[in-house]
Amino acid sequence: MTTILLIGKTGQVGWELQSSLAPLGRLIALDRTQLDLTRSPSIRKAIRSASPEIIVNAAGYTAVDKAETEPDLAMQVNATAPGVMAEEAARLGALLVHYSTDYVFDGTLSRPYVEEDEPNPLNVYGKTKLAGERAIAASGCAHFIFRASWIYSNRCTNFVLTMLRLARERKELAVVDDQIGSPSWARDLAQSTAALLRAAKRATDESGIYHLSAGGYASRYDFAAKIVETARLLSSEKTGWATVRPTTTAQYPLPAKRPLNAATDKSRIRRVFGIEMPAWETQLRSFFADLARTSRVLYATGNRP
Ligand SMILES: NC(=O)c1ccc[n+]([C@@H]2O[C@H](COP(=O)([O-])OP(=O)(O)OC[C@H]3O[C@@H](n4cnc5c(N)ncnc54)[C@H](OP(=O)(O)O)[C@@H]3O)[C@@H](O)[C@H]2O)c1
Repeated sequence: MTTILLIGKTGQVGWELQSSLAPLGRLIALDRTQLDLTRSPSIRKAIRSASPEIIVNAAGYTAVDKAETEPDLAMQVNATAPGVMAEEAARLGALLVHYSTDYVFDGTLSRPYVEEDEPNPLNVYGKTKLAGERAIAASGCAHFIFRASWIYSNRCTNFVLTMLRLARERKELAVVDDQIGSPSWARDLAQSTAALLRAAKRATDESGIYHLSAGGYASRYDFAAKIVETARLLSSEKTGWATVRPTTTAQYPLPAKRPLNAATDKSRIRRVFGIEMPAWETQLRSFFADLARTSRVLYATGNRP
């Protein structure tokens, strides 16, 4: 039976991977208390002790703005730690699955980015994620690096939950309409990862970077408007929702610079593995349907989630 070691089980993707990966083999899932990624010797020890055929690293330092003032910690978690995992994977002959980001690009192209496009991250987070990609590739282990985009779920901190909260607290929400990406539900990402592993098993020949995110593209404004519209339609409370209006990145400065065009081309993963995630609007509908089943908050009481 295949042993799969999942690192970062409490994150948005890690949480969903626990159920997606379980049918694929014997799953050992660790959280930060069981494996702290700032301690490289512990990473080696955990991997050697589990002796997995597949390592899935869903952990990451994901606080994009905070990373500007914590570059060493972000580098340790996003680059040094995955590098150690990759060395151990190479030693064991295991496959390493890792998630990276569209923020490795500077967003200046006028078309969606393909895997071969030259990265040029604009912020510390993107630089550390790129360093992680490179450390994995340098190790020589079999690996899949999935560059994901704008992930949300019903847990942790994310754009969807923030918009839902603010939409009930404020009369108006100004959201940038010049940042483009593919908003992706963590569950669809986890299920696509499992589907790919089922299809690929140990396809070392296909090692490399794959863009993996929802179908289609949206601006942050499009996304926010759809979130608030959907929530209002589904809620028993029809009033008291903020109006969403477009603004620009220049008018909304944040500590970390973001790429404007974070659109990625997902044709490589479709071509090689037949994996294609649903369109972002479809994923958002599924997310809301799941929220209705699991939280009851928005729908049953009219309270904000
Ligand atoms: N979120 C996005 O929009 C986005 C977009 C593109 C790519 N990605 C990438 O996709 C992956 C998954 O993202 P996500 O949104 O699911 O992340 P997330 O929800 O922020 O979860 C991050 C996970 O990493 C763990 N972690 C952080 N520092 C750690 C440490 N020192 N030791 C051990 N564990 C540590 C966290 O543990 P705790 O729960 O204990 O904090 C958590 O389980 C990451 O590699 C991220 O860079 C994310």
